[in-house]
Amino acid sequence: MLNIIIFGPPGSGKGTQSAKIVEKYHLKHISTGDLLRDEMKRQTKLGKEIAKYIDNGMLVPDDIVIRELQHTVKKNCDRSGFVFDGFPRTLNQAEMLDNMLICNEMPVNIVISVDVREDELLKRLLGRAEDSGRSDDNEEVIWKRIEVYKSQSLPLVSYYSNQGKLVRINGMDPVEKVFEKITLAIDTYLLNKEVLVEVN
Ligand code: C5P
Ligand code: MG
Repeated sequence: MLNIIIFGPPGSGKGTQSAKIVEKYHLKHISTGDLLRDEMKRQTKLGKEIAKYIDNGMLVPDDIVIRELQHTVKKNCDRSGFVFDGFPRTLNQAEMLDNMLICNEMPVNIVISVDVREDELLKRLLGRAEDSGRSDDNEEVIWKRIEVYKSQSLPLVSYYSNQGKLVRINGMDPVEKVFEKITLAIDTYLLNKEVLVEVN
């Protein structure tokens, strides 16, 4: 199996790059944000509970997120690997993923951290807000999401770099250029089992 985490602040291009990665390497894309939003759209009791968090830019509790994730993983054990997009978001979630045995063992092979400056994040998300229809794409909630990323998700950078799995990618470039850098990191891993520290 090849399991990749695509990590980065809101607006760093995780979803866009994940779609390209799964196409090239024939992996299954799992976006926990999409799973949660689907649940919201169905207006179930759970969906309404989830909306309370998402609409305020807060993280949905681990047990809900993990349940959504496990359900989708379980249905896709026949795939050659996953791209986790927007998950894990907390140290607790990362530890749970490390211990997950749904498709036998599911080691995380490589964690791609996409770095983008804050002013650029805001610009991109406000641009997206015009047609995303997302309840959390408005300036107030965007700032909250960036803040939550810094306080709750950023510790994952040292968690994965201590495991020798983290590669930092400069995500300020256009989509195709960022993707080239990502493929360089993945191909280097596939060929040499080596995780590059940084691709600029
Ligand atoms: O990943 P994405 O940007 O689509 O996530 C949107 C929102 O979904 C987050 O701001 C958060 O409220 C919720 N979410 C979460 N935990 C995750 C993924 C998403 O709480 N692992
Ligand atoms: Mg996304």
